[in-house]
Amino acid sequence: MPNEVEKISWLDPRMLWAARNGVLASWLGDPTGEVRARWVAQRAAAGAPADKVIRRDDPDRFSFLVVGDTGEGDEPQYAVVPGLLKEGRDTAFAVLASDVIYPVGSADDYGTKFFRPYRDYRAPIYAIPGNHDWYEDLTGFMRVFCGDAPPPAPGPAPRPLTRAWLRSLLWHRPRAGDGGSLDRARELRSEPAQQAVQPGPYWAIDAGPIRIVGIDTGLLGTIDAEQGAWLREVSRDPRPKILVTGSPLYVDGEHHPCPIEGGGTVDDIVRDPDHHYVAAIGGDIHNYQRYPVRLDDGRTLQYVVAGGGGAFMHATHTIPRVDVAGVTERDFRCYPLRGDSLAFYSGLYGRRLGLRRFFTLSDTEAMTVIAERLGIGPTRVPGTPPRITPRMRLVAGLLGTGRRPDRAKRFRLPVRKVYTSVFSPGSATYSPPFFKCFLRLDVSPEAIRLRCHAATGHRAQEVTPPVEDEVTIPLK
Ligand SMILES: [Fe+2]
Repeated sequence: MPNEVEKISWLDPRMLWAARNGVLASWLGDPTGEVRARWVAQRAAAGAPADKVIRRDDPDRFSFLVVGDTGEGDEPQYAVVPGLLKEGRDTAFAVLASDVIYPVGSADDYGTKFFRPYRDYRAPIYAIPGNHDWYEDLTGFMRVFCGDAPPPAPGPAPRPLTRAWLRSLLWHRPRAGDGGSLDRARELRSEPAQQAVQPGPYWAIDAGPIRIVGIDTGLLGTIDAEQGAWLREVSRDPRPKILVTGSPLYVDGEHHPCPIEGGGTVDDIVRDPDHHYVAAIGGDIHNYQRYPVRLDDGRTLQYVVAGGGGAFMHATHTIPRVDVAGVTERDFRCYPLRGDSLAFYSGLYGRRLGLRRFFTLSDTEAMTVIAERLGIGPTRVPGTPPRITPRMRLVAGLLGTGRRPDRAKRFRLPVRKVYTSVFSPGSATYSPPFFKCFLRLDVSPEAIRLRCHAATGHRAQEVTPPVEDEVTIPLK
């Protein structure tokens, strides 16, 4: 790690003000589609392939990594690196699934949050942007991943006193001179084997027997009409496909099909049997979740959340008992386990509020109270489970533990919705365990094996990153 890293505090008003473009886009209209179209046109003029397909010459059997929501540049991000290098040593490439750089995707942050942590990874890294990468109009991302693309000419000035005009007045833009340190940072990943140039923020990679399709869901988790048409087109190819997105289609027990401007959804395209998708992997939420959804035609699609690659942890104990699209607790998987998530947050709140004795739940207490509240069997309690006390129930409730749908809502600390957007980011911790993870996918013509490896910051797990989930996806 670098000696000094500016800690990102999402409770710092300056940080929130710098990251205001998402809010402005939802209040005053989202300019992402327009800006993206200008970037894409500029890349096409510079000779990027019109179909935006990266054609690699990987053999029939190869492996690659998927890492989500990496770049805060602090302990949790760097804690993922040793295991990632170990499990990734023989992989053909890595894909970063959204939010490459926090807080606002600045080019100057790429040194400590991208080039330095992954300098010893000796293969190309491709990426799709997340909302944070868009907070400076994608300028840093385009320079690093898309052939040093300079910002395209701005569109026509908005008419005075319109919403677009107000938005342009308040819009956050890159600092003058941003990216000055990029040339030096690039030297950290300067080997020929590490180089990759993307046709744009969304792309497809033809690798061995499969096609990986990466989409850019911008500031608000939607895609523009032009990208939608492209997605339909690249999805017609007969190869088995994996979607990589910055907006997971199933997350926290809910279905978010991801609207396409002009009609339809990304999930419609993914489910279409003519398109041969076998999995859809999304970043954005900083933990691991897997929903094996069985479709009417008998196929099973693996919907995965994989945002645990570096940034602060989003709680999993706030996920209610899963019952969505036929997926129940029997088939649902997550990391960290809900009990571990609750134990982690109970310790955190105990410290923050100076109420350790009241708040702190042991791992087994947390696991047992979760089992009771969600009506699921305890996942990892050796021996006799502890007796559940009113204190344990109260703490679990206050910390937003998911509950059976039939239980009424009561008062609780802002853990669930508010926590996901504001307080969870404020609860970053800088000592292990971190509950981070990354995916390794082993591809063959017959099947893809997907493994979720944990990274905790503890030495033992750096040497041998444990497998927290594994699934084999048949391709034939
Ligand atoms: Fe994120």
